[in-house]
Amino acid sequence: MLKHFTFDSVILGGGGSGLTSAIQLSKAGQDVAVISKVFPTRSHTVAAQGGIAAALANVSEDKWLWHMYDTVKGSDYLGDQDAIEFMCKNAAEAIYELEHMGMPFDRNDDGRIYQRPFGGMTKNFGESSISRTCAVADRTGHAMLHTLYQKNIELETKFFVEWIGLDLIRNQEGAVLGIVALELNTGDLAIFHAKNTILATGGAGRIFQASTNAYINTGDGLGMAARANIALEDMEFWQFHPTGILGVGVLITEGVRGEGGYLVNSNGERFMNKYAPKAKDLASRDVISRAIANEVNEGRGIGQNKDGVYLTLSHLGESLINEKLPGIRETAIKFANVDPVTDPIPVMPTVHYMMGGIPTNLDGQVRDTANNSIIDGFYAVGECACVSVHGANRLGSNSLLDLVVFGRAAGLNIINNSSDKKLKPLPKDAANFTLNRLNQIETNTNGENPKEVADELRKIMQDCCGVFRFPELLKKGLKEIQSIRIKTDNLQIQDKSKIFNTARTEALELTNLIEVAEATMNAAFARKESRGAHSRFDYPKRDDLNWL
Ligand code: FUM
Repeated sequence: MLKHFTFDSVILGGGGSGLTSAIQLSKAGQDVAVISKVFPTRSHTVAAQGGIAAALANVSEDKWLWHMYDTVKGSDYLGDQDAIEFMCKNAAEAIYELEHMGMPFDRNDDGRIYQRPFGGMTKNFGESSISRTCAVADRTGHAMLHTLYQKNIELETKFFVEWIGLDLIRNQEGAVLGIVALELNTGDLAIFHAKNTILATGGAGRIFQASTNAYINTGDGLGMAARANIALEDMEFWQFHPTGILGVGVLITEGVRGEGGYLVNSNGERFMNKYAPKAKDLASRDVISRAIANEVNEGRGIGQNKDGVYLTLSHLGESLINEKLPGIRETAIKFANVDPVTDPIPVMPTVHYMMGGIPTNLDGQVRDTANNSIIDGFYAVGECACVSVHGANRLGSNSLLDLVVFGRAAGLNIINNSSDKKLKPLPKDAANFTLNRLNQIETNTNGENPKEVADELRKIMQDCCGVFRFPELLKKGLKEIQSIRIKTDNLQIQDKSKIFNTARTEALELTNLIEVAEATMNAAFARKESRGAHSRFDYPKRDDLNWL
């Protein structure tokens, strides 16, 4: 049965960016739907630990211009400087807005918001590190998500929980008129018809085997955009977080190093002194991940396979760890079987964040890069978007900031352009593309097993597109991904039931994973330089002349 809903604005994704856009729109009296694959407070924003950056100057003098300088430099100069200026200038206001909604930030003794140092954040244009990251212990994303959700409840935003978005609906002129989505609880399809559509579907770290990302991060919005002929941008840039738990991938926040923790190799040596003598363990993530990979490659790794390093924080003392890093202590005990109060945590660089995504302008409007135009009625915000504020490498704690600054900007842009905006008529065949896709997966009798194909895809990405990128592996990866693409066009599921059919969901998610993986391999193969998180063995230098 095909259901049909009509709203002023439809937002796909219930994480930090989607909920922020929804607040602006509901506050302005719009009829808003937030559609989410999971209950909104389980969106992946909940996993953000260390904090949200803003030049509040609550610990020592700070300026938004210094924050901008750090972000441009951290991006290895690929970040869009207008976007970075906009984000850093608006950061303080965004924090106070969250605070006034009730977000329970940690406090200094004088009552002002607590801030900790984070990688690449400096004072006076690189002079020394600075405390710029506002935190709620090591559960900042959790606190933020609950605050934003509760505000939406107050504003009566409508939630469609446990629905997966499948395809965009576009008309002949290319305008976006809404989405087709599937309700997991019933297996029913629905058209969500709207004046404006916002994708806020988060990241896609599940294209890799080892990732700090939740299982839900399958790049659904990117898949939808790519299938609707919208080019993705900067997909070669994937951030490896230096401290995922060895062999497990669960995140250990950079806040540990912000509070004074440090990395050591198998000789007990603080090796970051050698790679980044000034910033040391608070160098940017691309630098630290490469340093760890180097230590491991040169035989100074720890663990059974000698493929990790240790993160030491016992010197911080039990009371600081319990107050500022309680979640880390719990995570380390559960997932690494070590208590960081007495023992170091074994860690390794783990895929954490996608710098690329759906191209947008500062207002979240999606850009069609093929003809340099704005796509009518279509917005993207948060990790699925590429406003290019992070360039080739994101600084830690700029992600939560990106969510709220650009989530808000998209909502405000819609409000400012909404007075004479009418609902455009739907094409008669609005859901046909999706119905055919689903039908093919369900009726195929000679197809591929989605789980096996997804495992194959993740292994190829992990082996061929890592911290260092080697020419032979990139070539191999590209070829293999192209043959996996043929398999994803021919999937088959055995279970045809309607209610919470996880086999169907996994097959549909795989059709998104392949779009992201193929874009990543193509872009990584094409960019013949090293910049930020894209480090090519055969082109070790940054090449501004050809690639900036
Ligand atoms: O390390 C962390 O707490 C992660 C923060 C971020 O990715 O911004």
